[in-house]
Amino acid sequence: MYIVDRTARFVRGFLLSYGPSSVKKRFWDKEYSQEKWTFAYNTVGDCVYPHLERYTKNAAILDIGCGSGNTGTEMAGHYRSYLGVDISEAALAKARRRSQECGRGDKNSFACSDFLTYVPPSQYDVILFRESLYHVPLGRVKETLDRYSAYLKHNGVLVVRLFASSGDSPNGKDKPRPAAMLRIVETKFEVLEKARYNLPGQPIVMVVRPIMGPEALS
Ligand SMILES: C[S@@+](CC[C@H](N)C(=O)[O-])C[C@H]1O[C@@H](n2cnc3c(N)ncnc32)[C@H](O)[C@@H]1O
Repeated sequence: MYIVDRTARFVRGFLLSYGPSSVKKRFWDKEYSQEKWTFAYNTVGDCVYPHLERYTKNAAILDIGCGSGNTGTEMAGHYRSYLGVDISEAALAKARRRSQECGRGDKNSFACSDFLTYVPPSQYDVILFRESLYHVPLGRVKETLDRYSAYLKHNGVLVVRLFASSGDSPNGKDKPRPAAMLRIVETKFEVLEKARYNLPGQPIVMVVRPIMGPEALS
């Protein structure tokens, strides 16, 4: 039973990172339609918000893998515009409704796309990957962040939030995949902020920007 369970989880994880867009879309639409993420619909006070707040005054924000609209409805309202991108239309329907309900219907917009191929329509002050980098194949993390960096305004930043460990215990062991992703972020970008929170899942938030000048080539 243990082996069957582990294999199923491996196949699922593999398809969600490396599978075709149609498979990923079907999976996420089903998750959101069956309300499997209701437990995560209220993340007011999340550790990512104080970091975001420092960079979002009058800012244009691009939220990659935005889900059902937590960030767009919960973060401080001092931003100028917010565009959330997600592969799940079911998630986006919730995000649109929640944005309307909290009076941010005019400031928030959404696009349904696979973020591995999405082409942003503008330049942004903040590009956020909140619990979504996990679904980028490890070998494409740097390339994906570089590609999105091209859509940052001068002085714009990338914000990455990832659970470092599994389980509810604050002392859980670090998971190798997020750890490898965070190492890439930390070593290939200029780190402006990095914080690890002693909470279940040990969330880590990093604020980074592309390395400029000769070091960018190393
Ligand atoms: C764990 S949820 C995080 C949602 C949101 N960022 C939050 O923190 O509340 C991951 C989200 O990434 C989206 N996602 C996964 N793979 C994607 C892909 N290839 N393209 C676009 N969105 C994707 C899923 O639909 C899901 O909404």
